[in-house]
Amino acid sequence: MMKFFKLACNAALAMAVALVMGCASTPVSDYQPQRGQTGKDVIWIPTSPELVTRMLNMAKVSNQDIVYDLGAGDGIIAITAAKQFGARAFGIEYNPQMALHAQSNARIAGVADKVSIRQGDIFEEKFDEASVVTMYLLPHLNLKLRPTLLKMKPGTRIVSHAFDMGEWEPDDRVGFDYASAYLWVVPSAVQGQWTLQEVDSSAQSVLEIEQIFQRIGGTITERGHKSPLLGAQLRGDKIAFQYVGADQQLRSVTAQVSGKRMQGVMTLQGGQLPIEATRP
Ligand SMILES: C[S@@+](CC[C@H](N)C(=O)[O-])C[C@H]1O[C@@H](n2cnc3c(N)ncnc32)[C@H](O)[C@@H]1O
Repeated sequence: MMKFFKLACNAALAMAVALVMGCASTPVSDYQPQRGQTGKDVIWIPTSPELVTRMLNMAKVSNQDIVYDLGAGDGIIAITAAKQFGARAFGIEYNPQMALHAQSNARIAGVADKVSIRQGDIFEEKFDEASVVTMYLLPHLNLKLRPTLLKMKPGTRIVSHAFDMGEWEPDDRVGFDYASAYLWVVPSAVQGQWTLQEVDSSAQSVLEIEQIFQRIGGTITERGHKSPLLGAQLRGDKIAFQYVGADQQLRSVTAQVSGKRMQGVMTLQGGQLPIEATRP
């Protein structure tokens, strides 16, 4: 009788262990979030699948990207970034049940190896490794994040569903079914005075750049001849402008900015010369 009781106990223990282990590996969460439910700083309303795809297309997401969704909800943006675009995707979600639910959704979608949703506060967690940041928050939260976003690597794309970034104008926008989303490309910091010269030449010009976010303008002074920059553009770390030189010839410059250095080419009368610019 005692032996039977022991056997029965062992079997019950084995079943309990199996059940617990089974629960730990089960891919389905039975948590059911409700549209409009309270969140720490903003309620949960999911972005529609169609708009998610348009947002990620607008940001040209590829399998080279690391996408972070700030306030990940049920994980739809991170999961789509991984499943349709091949990106590595992360989500930061304050609600712990929602974060588990989103990770469970990633498993169901078959992209658990590419998607990681973690519980955390978007104002405390780090996301500086992202090449693409997505969000569906509120105007004042976008503005609170703006200084952090502007310090990200130049070229990082930011996409926001519905809300803009104040006076930081978007580089692109998309509308779908009465909803809209905006794209910004983090610009290099180029404001100030640069010394520009053709590589292998000692002649130097002084380039003065004024910058407000991605909008730039300024002047270039070559052998005492000062010209305005024409059609100056900055997209991420790529800068382009034209000017009329001291010899009255139109020059076009395109260059890549890396910290205190720009390297690129100047096109003049159909020919191209390598140039570089530096600043202290
Ligand atoms: C409007 S929903 C957007 C969800 C998802 N990004 C989408 O577009 O479908 C905002 C989400 O942010 C979460 N949230 C609110 N404040 C947060 C915070 N400080 N840190 C992290 N997540 C937050 C909410 O719980 C909610 O799931």
